[in-house]
Amino acid sequence: MTIREVLKMGDPRLLEVAAPVARVGTAALRELLTDMQDTMRHLRGAGLAAPQIGVGLRVVIFGVDQNPRYPDAESVPFTILINPVLTPVGKAQEDGWEGCLSVPGMRGLVPRYRELRYQGIAADGKPIDRTVRGFHARVVQHEVDHLDGILYPRRIRDLTRFGFSDVLFPDQDLGDD
Ligand code: NI
Repeated sequence: MTIREVLKMGDPRLLEVAAPVARVGTAALRELLTDMQDTMRHLRGAGLAAPQIGVGLRVVIFGVDQNPRYPDAESVPFTILINPVLTPVGKAQEDGWEGCLSVPGMRGLVPRYRELRYQGIAADGKPIDRTVRGFHARVVQHEVDHLDGILYPRRIRDLTRFGFSDVLFPDQDLGDD
């Protein structure tokens, strides 16, 4: 079990475009996935992308099971997604509050596609192909943005809706990040 340091906004590694994973099932990839899971659970995150721990590969993990950081969110099955490809279903977008382990202590209102098809590879090499909506679709878009060097503050349209979690939501225990 290894909890890795999560890079914070301002680190240039968070702005790089990550490279596709060439082979699944390698020891190095297994170790990366274990570290990502340990780190995400330790920090009570809804998701984590490999570049956030300094690894420039197209790997994300996510999953929400009554996460206290997202008290209003529906649950999202724990998923390991390698080399993801996103295809919005329709053009409709909706605003929702997001936080990020790389932007600790803050929240912003971010527009995302309401419905989304995502494809990719699971840890065992099997294909993943799902069409989802709402918070599930939001989490996937947020995590995959990390693979293209985009942190959510760049997606905020109205910067008056960006601030410190404990000020925006004083009655909620959103943790430190
Ligand atoms: Ni993030």
